[in-house]
Amino acid sequence: MTDSISTIRREALGALERIGDSDALSAWRAQYLGRRGAVGKLFAQIGSLPKTERAAFGQGVNALQQELDRAHEEHRALMESQVMARDLEEGEIDISLPAYPRRRGALHPSTQTHREFQTIWADMGFQVYQSRDVEEDDLNFTLLNLPPHHPARDMQDTFYTTDPKVLLRTHTSPGQIRAMRDLGDGGTKPIRVILPGMCYRQEQVTARSEIQFTQVEGLAIGRNIRMSDLKGTIAEFAKRMYSPNAKVRYRASYFPFTEPSMEVDVECFLCGGEGCRVCKYTGWLEIAGSGMVHPTVLRNGGYDPSEWSGFAFGMGPERITMLKHGIQDIRYFWSNDLRFLRQF
Ligand code: PHE
Repeated sequence: MTDSISTIRREALGALERIGDSDALSAWRAQYLGRRGAVGKLFAQIGSLPKTERAAFGQGVNALQQELDRAHEEHRALMESQVMARDLEEGEIDISLPAYPRRRGALHPSTQTHREFQTIWADMGFQVYQSRDVEEDDLNFTLLNLPPHHPARDMQDTFYTTDPKVLLRTHTSPGQIRAMRDLGDGGTKPIRVILPGMCYRQEQVTARSEIQFTQVEGLAIGRNIRMSDLKGTIAEFAKRMYSPNAKVRYRASYFPFTEPSMEVDVECFLCGGEGCRVCKYTGWLEIAGSGMVHPTVLRNGGYDPSEWSGFAFGMGPERITMLKHGIQDIRYFWSNDLRFLRQF
């Protein structure tokens, strides 16, 4: 019996060496390793052997199967490399040809800016808090100190769903309430977050305004947070984001959810404050709305405004993305035109 193992082994390896094309190789494989092949027949014999011989014979057949498998694989690789060598010799493969260029994907320019923002704010201790796009009217307006019929609701034309209490957020500020309620632990813990995301307004679409755009909201709540903290924090951000000697200025403004409120400008980094087309010859670019969190908003977030205070800001990253890449028209951002997207 062990005879037949070594006979088959010799026969199979000998035949394999002479094989030069893949049809013959497949036939060899079927003959020895196939379901009805020689090795399979050896396995079938095991049952008819005396008990004492079965184990040794089985091991022998197993070893044979593995060896033939390996030999088959090696021979296949050898044949392949011979074919390649022949093609090379006959000039069928021109190894001096340049390779096909690989098309690499890239991040959307807006995503790139958001990542820059997030890195800077993370370095300054702000954690990213993801809030939702589809929001309740209460959070988008009422709890931010904009009760129904408040005239300031008209500042933002809103997309409502079929449920008049549910809308697409018009700004990232409703995330302030969610973050306070979620992370504030019943108004007992300080928080420092940024809330990036898409916002929606029902507006005339033009080169400068879209019905969707992104914002980055910032919120810091603590026991002794003052306006100087807001000013210092934003000035530091501007230095890291725009230029190491970026100048900022603050203009009094109005938002229902902050008091006092300020608009933040950074000195135009294109003209260095001289005045150019981009800054409309003012020397300044508006970068954020901001202010001290209104006591009513603190209360709605679960904080006692006699003990806690905070600042908030909202920035629009599209502007800086457009300036950075010389994008003339905001409509390119979300139209998914590959001719635009492939440039980044
Ligand atoms: N939510 C305001 C807007 O969209 C910006 C803002 C955020 C202002 C936070 C003050 C504080 O215009």
